[in-house]
Amino acid sequence: NPLNGATFVLAAHEIVQLPFDQGAEVAFAGRSNAGKSSALNALTGHNALARTSKTPGRTQLMVVFDLPRLKTEAAEPLDCRLVDLPGYGYAKVPEAMRKHWRGEIDAYLKMRRSLRGIVLIVDIRHELKEFDATMLQFCADTQLPCHVLLTKADKISRSQAQKALDAMRKHFRDNNVPGTAQVFSSSAKTGVEEARARVMVLLAT
Ligand code: GTP
Ligand code: MG
Repeated sequence: NPLNGATFVLAAHEIVQLPFDQGAEVAFAGRSNAGKSSALNALTGHNALARTSKTPGRTQLMVVFDLPRLKTEAAEPLDCRLVDLPGYGYAKVPEAMRKHWRGEIDAYLKMRRSLRGIVLIVDIRHELKEFDATMLQFCADTQLPCHVLLTKADKISRSQAQKALDAMRKHFRDNNVPGTAQVFSSSAKTGVEEARARVMVLLAT
């Protein structure tokens, strides 16, 4: 697993606190409680690298992880990072904080030069919510590559999962989103290898 050995770098409240903007970075985005931190843990092979929680809105920081292995094994050394973005859309987060993160995530997406792509985490049981549609539209507008993990697939049948995947792919076609999508489950470890390969492709973009 090339993503193994990921290490915590820092948790930032503002984009100015992020590591120097060089190398390659992939950001994990999604609504609150969608399963971003769990997906990060599954991909890196750590049980508790990113903090997961039953309480939505727990990750109210941008949490940065370094991938030192990719750096040492590459022909040309390159800093590679994964970023866990704060969950979006949780009602109990105070309005001021939601506003703050709307601004920070927006600025991060627009200005972060090392950002190579987005992994968007979507609960496979839910239809496309406003935050997800906005994120995908941003990717379409800027042609930033995006990979969608339709997660918590262990909660539904395989045919329902396939339906959700077809609907997401149709959304990509209809909206010119430069995206790929797959069925995923952090609990059942479904689609973990495929997702790792996608992250590697994004980092190398
Ligand atoms: P915030 O940081 O609060 O925005 O949430 P998050 O998107 O990081 O979600 P997190 O990974 O903390 O998971 C939220 C809840 O969903 C936890 O109770 C997890 O155990 C559960 N969960 C995450 N992934 C899966 C999955 O694949 N299957 C099932 N059944 N539960 C999952
Ligand atoms: Mg989280």
